Amino acid sequence: MTWRAHAIVLLLCLSILTGSSQAAKDDAIVVGKTFMAGSTNATLDSTAWSLVSHGIAEKLFTVDEMGEIVPQVASSVQKVSDQVWDVMLKDGYKFSDGTPVTADLVAKALTEMNTLNPSAQSSLGSDLKAEAIDDLTVRIESTQPTHIMDSVLAEWAFPIYYVDDTGFEPTFVFTGPYAVENFVEDDHIDLVPNVHYPGADERQEITLKKFQDGDALAAALELGQVDVAFHLPVDTLADLRKKDDVGIKSFEVGYHYMVFYNLCKNNMADVRVREAIDKAISRNALSQALQGGKGTRSLFPQGTPYFSESLGLGADEDKTGAEELLDEAGWKVSPSGKRTNAQGEELKVKLVAYPHRPGLVIMQPVIQDTLEGLGITVEKVLTGDDWSETQEIIDEGDFDMLMWAQHTLPAGDPGWFLNAFFRGDGGKNMGCFNSTTVQEILDELSTVEDHGARVNATANAQAAILQEVPVSNLVTPAWHIGLSKRMKDYVPWGSDYYVIRADMPITPNQPESKAEAEEPEGTADEPGSN
Ligand SMILES: *[C@@H]1O[C@H](CO)[C@@H](O)[C@H](O)[C@H]1NC(C)=O
Ligand SMILES: *[C@@H]1O[C@H](CO)[C@@H](O)[C@H](O)[C@H]1NC(C)=O
Ligand SMILES: *[C@@H]1O[C@H](CO)[C@@H](O)[C@H](O)[C@H]1NC(C)=O
Repeated sequence: MTWRAHAIVLLLCLSILTGSSQAAKDDAIVVGKTFMAGSTNATLDSTAWSLVSHGIAEKLFTVDEMGEIVPQVASSVQKVSDQVWDVMLKDGYKFSDGTPVTADLVAKALTEMNTLNPSAQSSLGSDLKAEAIDDLTVRIESTQPTHIMDSVLAEWAFPIYYVDDTGFEPTFVFTGPYAVENFVEDDHIDLVPNVHYPGADERQEITLKKFQDGDALAAALELGQVDVAFHLPVDTLADLRKKDDVGIKSFEVGYHYMVFYNLCKNNMADVRVREAIDKAISRNALSQALQGGKGTRSLFPQGTPYFSESLGLGADEDKTGAEELLDEAGWKVSPSGKRTNAQGEELKVKLVAYPHRPGLVIMQPVIQDTLEGLGITVEKVLTGDDWSETQEIIDEGDFDMLMWAQHTLPAGDPGWFLNAFFRGDGGKNMGCFNSTTVQEILDELSTVEDHGARVNATANAQAAILQEVPVSNLVTPAWHIGLSKRMKDYVPWGSDYYVIRADMPITPNQPESKAEAEEPEGTADEPGSN
């Protein structure tokens, strides 16, 4: 019996034992995910992030399919001064129990999140003051200035909710297209259309079901127990494609794959060495190994306003250029085939990856091959499941190259990623990068408010960063989701930030045709097809 058959049998046994197949309502659309909110208490950890992804919670602003920041519960925001902003709310907006969304309740939610959740403090500081200045206007006063309040309010850490304490126990109530009917911790959530949300009549009931991992999800999809499987390991796709009633869609996600160089290490301090490695890496080979995604040097994905066309992929796999740079930097090929300097020391690279993003694990040996092909000695380190092991390596700067996956536009604006990773004192700067030139451009970017000007300033920042090669961006990865026939028109976007949405389509069963999945152009996710 194959591992997958094991998984299927196990799943069958489990559903018989627990009766969990009956837990889902007969007609409900079943959305399978590998993560689920731990509760509806939006103030805890990253619960608000999950609730937004589940279609339960909304924010004042959000990021749309095109990567643009757009109003959601708010209608607009206006700057009063550097640290004071007025947010205007949509008129007539309601919570899922019919309670009107008022400036008072919004102010309370913002203040409470800022007090209780550190993620709601990173952009505005702690001690945020929010108060209603009329029914539909909230005045926000922050301890840190910002020039992009709409993006800040699009961060997941600012969900809009109120706590109804009239019942037996306090209940969190939200404004999203779906409301929680039944919450079974660590197993499933029954969702019903929020009747106070436009278009409620066209919406179906949904059961959000949590799966232990992508393989269990694929097995359930194969058995017809899931309508939207979000998301699937690449090695399950070939089998699933053989099924008539399953469609697979692939889409590019914001979690970019990249590799950071440690400029504190002697061998990495010379920009020519970093540039040589950057030149030699074949992004095409990486996306082939990943069976999907798109190689790129741009720090932001295509299809967002911040994708830098000019950086694009550029020359892929320029081995000769790389060899010339290494020669120039004094790392010559010795008779043994290894690159050594004048003192006879080998050029060594400790290449670290972590397992939590499987794509990194797949790419690591490909990059190792490239480095060895240049005569570089590679020490490959794959850390364990316990994140503290990776954190220790980062804290101690014990790497030359660190492979990394990062959502670079979590709230639609590039400022957070650029500042955190590329400022000398940035909170996520792991490789000792400290450039006055880049910092000046980032300072400039932080004062720019106009959208078009931000796009330009970001392009400048990217070009300046890539000139000094503190990082090699590698691939915009693609994820694969499985769809049943009635959900064949579902369009995934926004990585896993917005899985269940107001626009969930539903297609009546059409027994004669296989669920058709359109693959975004340029996304080769068929194993072996490239
Ligand atoms: C939600 O969690 C916070 C801690 O962040 C806690 O103080 C509060 O009592 C919880 N609220 C409810 C209604 O359970
Ligand atoms: C970055 O370099 C400047 C000098 O150019 C120095 O004053 C500063 O302390 C450095 N920052 C970090 C975090 O290393
Ligand atoms: C952005 O840059 C382009 C090309 O340099 C220029 O034509 C355009 O006016 C700039 N846009 C803004 C809003 O600054």
